[in-house]
Amino acid sequence: MTDVNISSTDDADSATGSRSPAADPAAGSVADPAAADVTAAHESGASIASFGQLAELGHVASALDPDAKPVLRVENLKMYFPVKAPGLVRRTVGHVQAVDGISFEVPEAGSIGLVGESGCGKSTTGRLITRLYKPTGGSMMFEGHDIAKLSQREMKPLRRNVQMIFQDPYTSLNPRHTVGAIVGAPLSVHNIVPKNQILPRVQELLEVVGLNPEHYNRYPNEFSGGQRQRIGIARALTLNPKLLVADEPVSALDVSIQAQVINLLQDLQHEFGIAFLFIAHDLAVVRHFCPEIAVMYLGKIVEIGDRETIYSHPNHPYTQALLSAVPDVKQAAIGGRRERIRLEGDVPSPINPPSGCRFRTRCSIAKEICAKVEPPLLQIGKRHKVACHFAGELHEHPTRPITTGILGVDDQGSPTSGGSTIDVPPPSPSYDKTWFDVKKQAVTGV
Ligand SMILES: Nc1ncnc2c1ncn2[C@@H]1O[C@H](COP(=O)(O)OP(=O)(O)OP(=O)(O)O)[C@@H](O)[C@H]1O
Ligand code: SF4
Ligand SMILES: [Mg+2]
Repeated sequence: MTDVNISSTDDADSATGSRSPAADPAAGSVADPAAADVTAAHESGASIASFGQLAELGHVASALDPDAKPVLRVENLKMYFPVKAPGLVRRTVGHVQAVDGISFEVPEAGSIGLVGESGCGKSTTGRLITRLYKPTGGSMMFEGHDIAKLSQREMKPLRRNVQMIFQDPYTSLNPRHTVGAIVGAPLSVHNIVPKNQILPRVQELLEVVGLNPEHYNRYPNEFSGGQRQRIGIARALTLNPKLLVADEPVSALDVSIQAQVINLLQDLQHEFGIAFLFIAHDLAVVRHFCPEIAVMYLGKIVEIGDRETIYSHPNHPYTQALLSAVPDVKQAAIGGRRERIRLEGDVPSPINPPSGCRFRTRCSIAKEICAKVEPPLLQIGKRHKVACHFAGELHEHPTRPITTGILGVDDQGSPTSGGSTIDVPPPSPSYDKTWFDVKKQAVTGV
């Protein structure tokens, strides 16, 4: 087990001025009892094992509100990037199917986590929602508008409500601009406050994120990684957004600072009622922040559900493998030691993904049907959906496919009605009151 010593607390502290109550715990101030534990551990020379331990010391994981209305409803969202041939004509010779028909909802003031291996389409999803890209297909309902269809001009008034926090605090801030200019830019662009009120607003925001408001005229290179990420967060908060897309917001940071930034985000969420789409590799971080989690593989959501179900009862072989690969040091944060499942081979190319189930080239339980028919994202619990013909808990996968009834195919995936095409229903973003119980092999409900 690798112990991570807390070096000095985030050097944010050295630059920190007075803070709002919301920012206090996150910044590790000794006013917060949990943070005091961390400080005491540091002073006594004890080491803190992991993000999970650090974060749990500070704040409890946020809870799911099943009655919350969705602030964003994403349905059958697709992004295909054209692949051009080299040469003068630059003909389109194929498409990278970066996101291919995903559906989910982000609850008001809640958060949903997006996890999956590198290249599975997480950042592309975030960029679609913030409309840095225009989707190839699908819809994204936000405040009564389908933002997938709006032009850049039509998007402008809505853009302030959907903001993004980027992964790399070193490259996401312009090194030639002062912090005041960076955080204040959205206010000028959207013409929200008179010029003479920009500075006080910037200083207020710096204070909210635990930075010294007097440091508005400093440049990004005068701050540490953790402090820079706080500047990025202040910039994202400038316009009072309803939804924040946080793309790997802590993965570039040291583990002790990760916990502080995550706790800051949680405080801000509670204080300002911000909803989050939270993208991360780190399953311990996602578990702490998100009561609902979607697992992506090669452009598709393969499993989605509430935190307890996803971490304790994953039904998709990919989720089972992902969870088993979390290093020992993080096991406590995701619920104990697990059997290690090795995923063979690399992720296939999204230009030419495998037929049927995209995971089949790496799946140890794949059968004939998996190559022929794409598994639908089937609801198998109150708040649990999975896209697998043989969905089931680890070592309890059924021997016969569970999807034949809805798809009208036999066990090998051939249509039973004699037709040649199989219509896989597009995934729904919400949950039904009834579902297919895998253990009972029957439809059940509340
Ligand atoms: N602008 C683009 N043009 C062409 N292909 C792209 C573009 N952006 C992303 N891709 C491709 O789309 C796929 C998904 O990329 P994306 O960045 O969304 O993955 P990710 O899940 O965020 O990965 P990571 O965890 O490494 O950040 C990858 O195959 C990537 O190469
Ligand atoms: S559908 Fe088949 S290949 Fe895909 S995850 Fe399930 S068992 Fe594996
Ligand atoms: Mg990414």
